[in-house]
Amino acid sequence: MTAMPVAQSSLGGRDLLSAADLSASEVQRLFDRATHLKAEFRATRRHADPLLAGRTIAMLFQRPSLRTRVTFEAGMAQLGGHAIYLTHETVLGARESVRDVARNLDRFVDAIVARTGPHQVVVELAAQAAVPVVNGLTLREHPCQALADLFTLRERFGRLAGLVLAFVGDGNNVYHSLALLGATLGVDVRLAHPEGYGPDRRIVERARELAETTGAALVFGHDPAEIVRGAHVVYTDAWTSMGQEAEAEERRDAFAPYQVDARLLETAGPEAMVMHCLPAHRGEEITSDVMDGPMSLILEQSENRLHVQKALLVELLADEAARAEPPASAGGRPEASTTPV
Ligand code: CP
Ligand code: NVA
Repeated sequence: MTAMPVAQSSLGGRDLLSAADLSASEVQRLFDRATHLKAEFRATRRHADPLLAGRTIAMLFQRPSLRTRVTFEAGMAQLGGHAIYLTHETVLGARESVRDVARNLDRFVDAIVARTGPHQVVVELAAQAAVPVVNGLTLREHPCQALADLFTLRERFGRLAGLVLAFVGDGNNVYHSLALLGATLGVDVRLAHPEGYGPDRRIVERARELAETTGAALVFGHDPAEIVRGAHVVYTDAWTSMGQEAEAEERRDAFAPYQVDARLLETAGPEAMVMHCLPAHRGEEITSDVMDGPMSLILEQSENRLHVQKALLVELLADEAARAEPPASAGGRPEASTTPV
């Protein structure tokens, strides 16, 4: 077991509602732990030390999910714990108030992962529950996605500071979390969006405040070609997010010039990588050739949801002694532990 120089954990018992809830050093620690967990899991499909034995989480999902649900559930099982998936039938606020749900669940389980429409619901859950609440996507943010995405970029480029991520499409929940986390970690996050589909101003203000310490630039425009030129990565997401289905037709018209295709990628440059949080709508925001092409990091991003969220669960829930213990590495210090965020 080789000791790793990591900051003391300060995440124990905390909520993760926004990508702005974590400092750069907290993210670095999380990424180092995720690197270790990923290496161990890939080598053996097992973890020698079940750090979450006896721990349970509840997963309150008011929207469908493949990745978020399966990675949290599988992650808890792989770490020796258990996750309970609660479908939309446990309607928050209809069958039972959010307050009552929170104050029952915190007597049963050690944390709650919630996917809701309005962001205010996860804020209220967190205010009422005595256990950590993790945002598994709201209309405002998707912090777990942004963490996995920037972890993927750190793996690929060996650094984060100075990278340029060009987001093409809607100034939505995924963009918001990427902008906040990018600002914290020194990644320039650009956005090309149609008129009327820009981000929430409060998020941009917060991201600008965070960027003051890292020098990250937030750039906006309406011309995708201009925004992607010279970017390290071109990122896109659905034109219509969950909960906006009634607007799908008008959104399809507004976003038609914002498709990520081979021509746009060529404009970005020969080294530009491609990202998408999934689920994708092939032929709409992204073409199949780009999605399945050699520059795609999309499946890495998806896999990394598992490793990064497991690291998050350990930081939030493991016994103090286990959290304070630096991630062990059978083969010596994990490579990324020396990588600056
Ligand atoms: N990217 C993501 O959150 O996927 P799911 O909606 O399938 O969870
Ligand atoms: N913006 C998309 C992300 C899905 C993971 C949505 O909210 O539906």
